[in-house]
Amino acid sequence: MLISEVIQSVKDYCRGEWYGVAIDDSTTRDKILYGNPDVECTGIVTTIYASVDVIKKAHELGANLIIAHEALLWNHGDHRDWLEDSQNKTYLEKKKLMDDYGICVWRCHDYIHSGIPHNGGWIDGIFYGLAKETGWDNAKINEDVSGALYLECEETSPKKIGDIIKKRWNLNGLKCIGNMDAKVTKVMVCGHVKEGGDSNTLIKRVDAEDINLLLPLELIDFTLTEYIKDSGQLGMNRAILAAGHFNLEEPGMKYMSTWVNNALKENINATYVQAGDMYTYL
Ligand SMILES: [Fe+2]
Ligand SMILES: [Fe+2]
Repeated sequence: MLISEVIQSVKDYCRGEWYGVAIDDSTTRDKILYGNPDVECTGIVTTIYASVDVIKKAHELGANLIIAHEALLWNHGDHRDWLEDSQNKTYLEKKKLMDDYGICVWRCHDYIHSGIPHNGGWIDGIFYGLAKETGWDNAKINEDVSGALYLECEETSPKKIGDIIKKRWNLNGLKCIGNMDAKVTKVMVCGHVKEGGDSNTLIKRVDAEDINLLLPLELIDFTLTEYIKDSGQLGMNRAILAAGHFNLEEPGMKYMSTWVNNALKENINATYVQAGDMYTYL
């Protein structure tokens, strides 16, 4: 099966539309970021990000297709002109590695978020993978209006969930903010909390709906983080566990390695390779 056929099969397997609008192949992020798709696929690696070590591991595994959720070359749209112009040394070495190993990298972002088959319907493949890998299979899961995930689970605490996440997601640690002994029944993956905007809408919602635990993607100290710190110091059931953007979405790519063959017309060896915790700590 050609790499291009593998990619098309995965696209066909996924829902391929967001809020009733079909993913447009001319504007989707889900592009071939590197390499030649018109060759036989020798194996698939799924990962959050095709780092140098992931590329080396794919080669060791005999795989020439890396399906990554995030960009390859450190910018939105994976533009390479600025790297070519400046002859960026890291870029040149990474490129050589992919050339030497004949690696093709395809980004699967919009399609997997648009939905994979689940219980006769569709569910976001990244956030369902996160829930499943964390042991929340039986939780009441809703895809959130904000595009992430909201779930209700049996009462637990941020400390307990943090321990589970660290172990099952194979992380070096997590940033913990707020009341680590909070009673948690409502958990929200709250998306990116980034520079350049307030989090008033999110804070209002957390307060009104009594959401106990937030799992953010990107996170800054301003806004939400300060609010959760104050709420925790007042003894409220509020906490943040911040694993980091890539660490948080990577379980979804681990889960992908279990279903990718369902999408293909033949079996191809598919292996999850963890890009590795983005962070180590002293
Ligand atoms: Fe992401
Ligand atoms: Fe994502």
